[in-house]
Amino acid sequence: MGRKLAAGNWKMNGTPAMLDGLKTLSAPNGTQVLICPPAPLIHRAAQIAGPVAIGGQDCHTQASGAHTGDTAASMLKDAGATYVIVGHSERRADHAETNAQIRAKAEAAYAAGLTAIICIGESEAERLGPDCLDIIAAQLDGSTPDGATADNTVIAYEPIWAIGTGRVPTLDQIIETHDMIREKLTNRFAAQGTTMSILYGGSVKPSNAAEIFTAQNVDGALVGGASLKPDDFQPIIDALAAS
Ligand code: 13P
Repeated sequence: MGRKLAAGNWKMNGTPAMLDGLKTLSAPNGTQVLICPPAPLIHRAAQIAGPVAIGGQDCHTQASGAHTGDTAASMLKDAGATYVIVGHSERRADHAETNAQIRAKAEAAYAAGLTAIICIGESEAERLGPDCLDIIAAQLDGSTPDGATADNTVIAYEPIWAIGTGRVPTLDQIIETHDMIREKLTNRFAAQGTTMSILYGGSVKPSNAAEIFTAQNVDGALVGGASLKPDDFQPIIDALAAS
């Protein structure tokens, strides 16, 4: 069992006015709440977020240098972030990010003192094929640094075909996949792997969150669309707290 984390990924959405909604979110005892707004909003978000932690959506592998348009992990930290998402499937697709790059980004996050949320997950064709769990296991292995601990790393399993579609895997598929991830983490990282948090992401809503959180190795959620409105996100947080 890892830390209970309800994480919201705003993706390329969000206005300064939306930050007011952060003030209305509450984090019940034992549950951590995180919002990852677009980079330009991180500083303001961190100043008003109260019990809500703030994170970035990506960082560069390098600490500084000639990388126009990119953001170093230390800059996110300076702006008030404590987490950073790396290897989201939208970045893997839009920016051709490889497992090796994502591993290097996670290492950059550690060096800056950030917790890395490392995303993995299969395409629909992979889900329908015979090697789905092997493909996810290879992503996990390739994207996770040797220095990962329960403190500096969270794993997010996000099936690509479930993101923004309203479709979710069956509970049995979620259980099978998260159990496999837990086994791999425990084999590689021993005690640290038993308590590293594993989030499920992909069309998590108030209506399905409680059922997803019944899975033993689901420690929380990485939520896209439903994290944009406090009225949708708070019930998901509360379902996690009650699980
Ligand atoms: P949705 O919750 O909108 O499906 O997005 C999931 C996601 O990609 C979170 O990172």
